[in-house]
Amino acid sequence: MISTSPTNHRPSFSLASVIRSFLPSLFFFLFILYLLHSYEILIYPPHFTSKINSQHSDLQTNATKASLVNLTQTEHPKIGYDTELKHIAFCIAASSKLWESRKEYIKLWWKPGETRGGVWLDKKVKIKPNESLPDIHISQDTSRFPYTNKQGHRSGIRISRIVSEALRLGLEDIRWFVMGDDDTVFVVENVVRVLSKYNHKQFYYIGSSSESHLQNIYFSYLMAYGGGGFAISYPLAKELEKMQDRCIKRYPGLYGSDDRMQACMAELNVPLTKEPGFHQNDIYGNLLGLLSGHPVTPLVSLHHFDVIEPIFPGMERAESIKHLLESAKYDSASLIQQSICYDQKREWSILVSWGFTVQIMRGILSPRELEIPSRTFINWYKVLDFTSYTFNTRPVRVNPCQTPFVFYINSTRYDKARKQIIGIYTLHREHHPRCKWKMVSPKTIHTVVVLKQEDPDRWQRAPRKDCCRVLPSSKKGIMYLWVGHCGENEVIEV
Ligand SMILES: *[C@@H]1O[C@H](CO)[C@@H](O)[C@H](O)[C@H]1NC(C)=O
Ligand SMILES: *[C@@H]1O[C@H](CO)[C@@H](O)[C@H](O)[C@H]1NC(C)=O
Ligand SMILES: *[C@@H]1O[C@H](CO)[C@@H](O)[C@H](O)[C@H]1NC(C)=O
Ligand SMILES: *[C@@H]1O[C@H](CO)[C@@H](O)[C@H](O)[C@H]1NC(C)=O
Repeated sequence: MISTSPTNHRPSFSLASVIRSFLPSLFFFLFILYLLHSYEILIYPPHFTSKINSQHSDLQTNATKASLVNLTQTEHPKIGYDTELKHIAFCIAASSKLWESRKEYIKLWWKPGETRGGVWLDKKVKIKPNESLPDIHISQDTSRFPYTNKQGHRSGIRISRIVSEALRLGLEDIRWFVMGDDDTVFVVENVVRVLSKYNHKQFYYIGSSSESHLQNIYFSYLMAYGGGGFAISYPLAKELEKMQDRCIKRYPGLYGSDDRMQACMAELNVPLTKEPGFHQNDIYGNLLGLLSGHPVTPLVSLHHFDVIEPIFPGMERAESIKHLLESAKYDSASLIQQSICYDQKREWSILVSWGFTVQIMRGILSPRELEIPSRTFINWYKVLDFTSYTFNTRPVRVNPCQTPFVFYINSTRYDKARKQIIGIYTLHREHHPRCKWKMVSPKTIHTVVVLKQEDPDRWQRAPRKDCCRVLPSSKKGIMYLWVGHCGENEVIEV
C-alpha cells in the first residue's frame, strides 16, 4: 500500500519504482504463466480423473471445464405422440432357404418380451426352443395371383401381403406396422423416436428411397424400399387390407413387394413420407463414408449385410453389427451422429461418428466438405461414378496426406459419478500412402477417448449436430475429445 498522506510521504517508494523493481520478476512470472498455459496445465486443472474399464485402466481422463458444461435441457415442450415400443408390430419377411443364416441378423435387434410382431416365412422351418426370435408365421398361399416379371420372384406377392396378414392377427393396441426383411437390422429405440413424431391415427406410409439414383429411376422415388424397412400407420393398414388383394392383381408385372406396396399406396392416395434414417444400403464396399456422413436424423435401420463389407474390419458381419449396437445401449439417439472439430496445434481435421468411428485427417478441411459422405463405397451398378447417388459424396481424399486415420469404437462404459459416457476408439492400422507434408502424423495417436453425456431427447429439439472439442492430454498417443451441446456462440472454427 502506498500512503498518500503528507506525514507519511515517502517519495522514493512510488508505484512506478515498485513496478520497476519488480519488473524482471514480473516478466519471469508471466513467462512461467505462458509456459504453463501453452501446456494447458494451468487453465485446465487436472482434477478430473476417471477410471475406465479394467481393459483400459491405464486411460485416465483429465477433463476440462468443457466436459463439465451444464447440459441440463433447456425448456422445451414435448413434440409428437407418446408412441412406445409396445405400440409397434414388426413384420419381418423371411425365406426358409436363408433362414439359418438370416435369423442371426434378427437376433441382433429383437428384444424378446419387448418387441412385438412376427416373422413370415414361405415354409415351415426347424425351430429350436428358446431362441430369442419373434413368433413365426407361414404366409398364405399366393398361387392364385398372377406374376409376370421376368427378373423378379413371385415371393414379392407373398411379402407384400404380410402387412394385411399381420393386421388380421388382431394384436391389441398397435399403432404402427413396421415392415422389414430378414436382413434388415433396426435400431428399435430410433424406430420409436421417428414414429412418435407422427399421428398414428392418420394415414402414414413412412420410409426412404434407395441410395442409388438408378434404382430410384427404375423403381420409384416415391416408394419406400423394403430392405430399409418402412412403417404403415394402423388406420392405413386397415384401409389397405380391404383392397390389397384386388390391388395386387392389377400389377402382375411389378418386380417385388415394395413396388406392389407403393402401387396400392398410390391407389389409396397416400404419398411416401421420407425419413432418411431408414437405409436400404444399395451399395457395395465399405459403409464407413455413408455412416460417418449420416444426415442429422436418427439411425433407424441398416440392410444388405451380406453384400457390404463388415462395418468393423476383421469382424464377422453379424458380430460387427452387434458391436455397433453396443454403443446404442448407451445413447441410441446419438448413434453414428456426426461432430466435427480441429486439433489446432497439429492442424488435423477430426470427424466423429459417435459410437462408431473417429477419423483424423492431416490438414484442415472445412465443415461443409467434411460433413459430406466420403465415397468408401461404390454404387449398386458397380460404377465408379459420383453422379449415381441420391446425395452428395466426396472423394475419400484429394491429397494422399489427407487419407483418414480411422479409429473404431473398441468399448464403451458409463461413468455414473460424472454422468457421462466414455467411448474408447482404437486406431485401425492399415497402409497409408506416403505423405510429404511436414507435420505430425495422426499415426502418433493410437487411442481416442470420447466423452459425452447421454442425450435421449435430442430429437425433441431442432436437428443440430453436437459440438466437438479437443481436450488436453498429457498421455502420449491418446487424444481426448468431448462432444455435446454447443455452447453459446460456439462455432466450428479453426
Ligand atoms: C445446471 O442448470 C440447472 C438449471 O439451470 C441448475 O438447476 C443446476 O444447478 C445446474 N447445475 C450445475 C452443476 O451448474
Ligand atoms: C433353453 O431352455 C432350456 C430348458 O428350459 C434351458 O436349460 C436353457 O438354459 C435355455 N437356453 C437359453 C439360451 O435360454
Ligand atoms: C479392444 O481393445 C482390446 C485391447 O487392445 C482388444 O483386445 C480387443 O479385441 C478390442 N475389441 C474390439 C471390439 O475392438
Ligand atoms: C491427468 O493428470 C494426472 C495428475 O496431474 C497426470 O498424472 C496424468 O498423466 C494425467 N493424464 C492425462 C491423460 O492427461
